[in-house]
Amino acid sequence: MSTAQPAAPAAGTGFRAVVNPLAGEVTPVSVPTEEILAFHRRLPGYGPTPLLSVPALAERLGVGSVLVKAESNRFGLPAFKMLGASWAVYRTLCERLGADPEPWGDVDELAARFAPLRPFTLVAATDGNHGRAVARMARLLGFGARIFVPSGTTEARIAGIAGEGAEVGVVPGTYDAAVARSAEEEGPGAAVISDTSWPGYSDVPLRVIEGYSTMFSEIDDALSAAGHEQPDVLVVPVGVGALAAAAVQHVQGSPGAVVVGVEPEDAACVTASALAGELVTLEGEQRSIMAGLNCGTPSPVAWPLVSRGVAGFVTIGDDWARRAVRELAAVGIEAGETGAAALGGLNAVHECGGTGPMQRFLGPTANLLVLVTEGASDPGAWRRILGVEAVGAD
Ligand SMILES: Cc1ncc(COP(=O)(O)O)c(C=O)c1O
Repeated sequence: MSTAQPAAPAAGTGFRAVVNPLAGEVTPVSVPTEEILAFHRRLPGYGPTPLLSVPALAERLGVGSVLVKAESNRFGLPAFKMLGASWAVYRTLCERLGADPEPWGDVDELAARFAPLRPFTLVAATDGNHGRAVARMARLLGFGARIFVPSGTTEARIAGIAGEGAEVGVVPGTYDAAVARSAEEEGPGAAVISDTSWPGYSDVPLRVIEGYSTMFSEIDDALSAAGHEQPDVLVVPVGVGALAAAAVQHVQGSPGAVVVGVEPEDAACVTASALAGELVTLEGEQRSIMAGLNCGTPSPVAWPLVSRGVAGFVTIGDDWARRAVRELAAVGIEAGETGAAALGGLNAVHECGGTGPMQRFLGPTANLLVLVTEGASDPGAWRRILGVEAVGAD
């Protein structure tokens, strides 16, 4: 009898796919999508991000079609997060003001309406993108910003946040530790704008989820303008699950459409929670290069939608993300490591899924919508992955 152990997968190449055992009926939530879109349209630099048909990816994955919603440049920032951060900031400030700032035409007028609140500070915890967006809103409105990042956040991401004029605090430990630190700042002159929730703090993260609806409103508009049918499968990168919750809300209007979530293998807190049947917090540190997904605890306010409404989860090692970054660049789409995660998950299912459970979402007639949620938010790391800069620690 052989004593040889099966070879462990090479670091970074891990893959797992699970059908969500909790999937079921979702309680519909009403979202004021028109009002939110009208709000975003008045912010500087608003424009719908591209929805691209990529036949080369469809052919390689052996599916009917692949659409990519590319969030490489959203309001001049390299990720979709401003959609949620801006709406959450707006609603929070309306409440602090105790008055409706309407009518206002542009952000300068809005800043003047909120001026009685000054001096005021917006606070957030982040792996990079959300905090940068909160800092941008603070700058636009003439407020201060204090943003907490976990140790291990790359210099480029810290510089991006500081470049918005924010004070950046590095918190020893994980993203969850940065979230806990940010929560201490709430007070009369400061509001915490978090994309995740905790007991007693849920309104703001619910507004963040609502803000993401603009991405889906744009997708609907682009699909109807092109006469394209609704996709069958939305593939979404998952951190705390707020974006996935927005995707679930969106597919409620499209019978038959499903959402598939992709997480890094060492930050798969939503998958772990689905398998446990309850919210779980991961042990240890999450250090994936998919930095935006390095979360140890799902957002409790996203959980009711995510736990029932996501059909299945794929967890991947970092090499899948690196490869997807290169593949997207080859078809002209700038995607950072987090932004490329959804394609990384699809590649893994295609190549390693065999007859596994997720294959049923990848049939030859399936129309996929892949959310590429981020551009090169750390340009040096992005260039190293593409091999156009000397390899460093990424
Ligand atoms: C680029 C990017 N994509 C996806 C996500 C995941 O979003 P969520 O944490 O809502 O699951 C994040 C989170 O920060 C992100 O920065």
